[in-house]
Amino acid sequence: MLNFNYRNPTHVVFGKDRIAELDQLVPANAKVLITYGGGSVVRFGTLDKVKAALGNRTVIEFGGIEANPKYDTLMQAVEVARKENIDFLLAVGGGSVMDGTKFIALATQFDGDTTSLLHHGFAPVPVADDKVIPLGVIATLPATGSEMNAFAVVSYKGGKFPVNHPSVYPTFAMLDPELTFSLPKIQVANGVVDAFVHVLEQYATYPVDARVQDRTAEGIMRTLIEIGPITVEEPTNYEARANLMWSATSALNGMIGVGVPFDWTTHMIGHELTAIFNIDHAQTLAVVLPSVWRVLKTQKQAKLLQYAERVWDITAGDEESRVEQAIVKTEAFFQQVGLKTRLRDHGVEKAQIDTVINALEAHGMTALSESGKVDLAVSRQILDMAW
Ligand code: NZQ
Ligand code: ZN
Repeated sequence: MLNFNYRNPTHVVFGKDRIAELDQLVPANAKVLITYGGGSVVRFGTLDKVKAALGNRTVIEFGGIEANPKYDTLMQAVEVARKENIDFLLAVGGGSVMDGTKFIALATQFDGDTTSLLHHGFAPVPVADDKVIPLGVIATLPATGSEMNAFAVVSYKGGKFPVNHPSVYPTFAMLDPELTFSLPKIQVANGVVDAFVHVLEQYATYPVDARVQDRTAEGIMRTLIEIGPITVEEPTNYEARANLMWSATSALNGMIGVGVPFDWTTHMIGHELTAIFNIDHAQTLAVVLPSVWRVLKTQKQAKLLQYAERVWDITAGDEESRVEQAIVKTEAFFQQVGLKTRLRDHGVEKAQIDTVINALEAHGMTALSESGKVDLAVSRQILDMAW
C-alpha cells in the first residue's frame, strides 16, 4: 500500500424527512445564499422546505446553475455573495450545483483574477482557508460524490477544469434518497455509471496489496450492478435509491482512493467530449472506459483479471479472454441501464476526433493514466476504438 493522508470532515446526514434538521446544521446567525440549478428543486417543492427549515435567517437565492456549470454563471453568484456579505452557502441540487457552489466559496473573497483558480489541475488552489466561505449541500442526484469531497469541475471557454481545496468539503451533506425520486431515468442511469467509473478509475490500475480499498471497491461495484437497473426502473424504490446514494458517495469520498494509484484517463478524455459535443458527463465515460481498457490491457492486466473474477465471477478461459469478457460485461451493464457505449451513437463524426485531440493538447492532457504513458497518440487510439 502507498503512503497516504486521509481527512474527511463532512458530516453526513442520511435518510428521509430530515430537512428540518438544517436548523441545527446551518449556523444560527448565518446570512445564507441558497444555490440551485435549472428549477427542479423549485418544481418538486424542495426549495420551499429548505427555506422553511432555515427559519428567521436571512436567505438569498441564486438559481440557474446549469449542468456542467459555467464560470460566467458562477461569477454572477459571486457578485451576489460579495454584495450581500454572504457567510454560508447552501447548495441544493446535483453535482453541477454542488461543484458550482464550491467555486463560489473559493472565488468570493479571492483578490486576484478568478480565472486563475481554474488552472491548478489536481493541486489545491492557492486560497487561504479563512477566505473560503463554508458550505453545506443537499444532494438531489447520486452520481458525482461532490457531496463528500473537495473537488469541483468548472466549464470555461470550451474546457472543463478541476478545482480543489481542502476547505470546500461541505460541512454537512444531507442525503435523502426520496429527493431522487423525481429524477428522469437517464439521470439515474448517468449516476449509476458515473459512480461505477469513479470506483474503477481508482481500482483498475496495478496491484499494491491494498486489500481494504480493493474489497470495498468491489463491494460498491457489485452493489451498483445489483441495484443499478432497479434504481432506473423503479423510481420510488427507497431501498434501491438509498443504496445507490451511498454507493455514489462512497465511490468518491476518498476512502477507496487512499494508498492506491489512480488513473482518471477516462474522465479527462470524457471532459473534453462534454465540452465539445455537450454529451452528459457519465455518457462520455460509458463510451471511453471500455476502449481505455482495451488499449491499456497489458498495463492493467493484473487488476482487470481481479475485477473479472471478483466482480463478474469470470474464471474460465485464458487471461486475455477473461479480460475481454470483463470488458464486454461492463459495456453490457452500461447499456442495460440505458447508456450508449459508442461515440458515433452520440452523433460524433470520426473526423471530429481531431478536435478532441487538439483540446487534450491545449489542456496539457498529454501524459495520462497511472503510468503517465497515455500521450496524444494513445488517446487517439482510444478515441478511434471508442468511435
Ligand atoms: O438543474 P436542475 O433543474 O436541478 O436539473 C438537473 C439537471 O438538469 C437534474 N436534477 C438534479 N436533481 C434532480 C434533477 N431533476 C429532477 N429531480 C432531481 N432530484 O439533473 C440534471 C443534471 O444535473 P447535474 O448536477 O448536472 O448532474 P450530475 O450530478 O451528474 O453532475 C455533473 C457534473 O459534476 C461534475 C461533472 O463534470 C459535471 O459537471 N463532476 C464532479 C465531480 C466531483 N465534484 O467530484 C466528479 C465527477 O467525475 C464529475 O466530473
Ligand atoms: Zn465522474
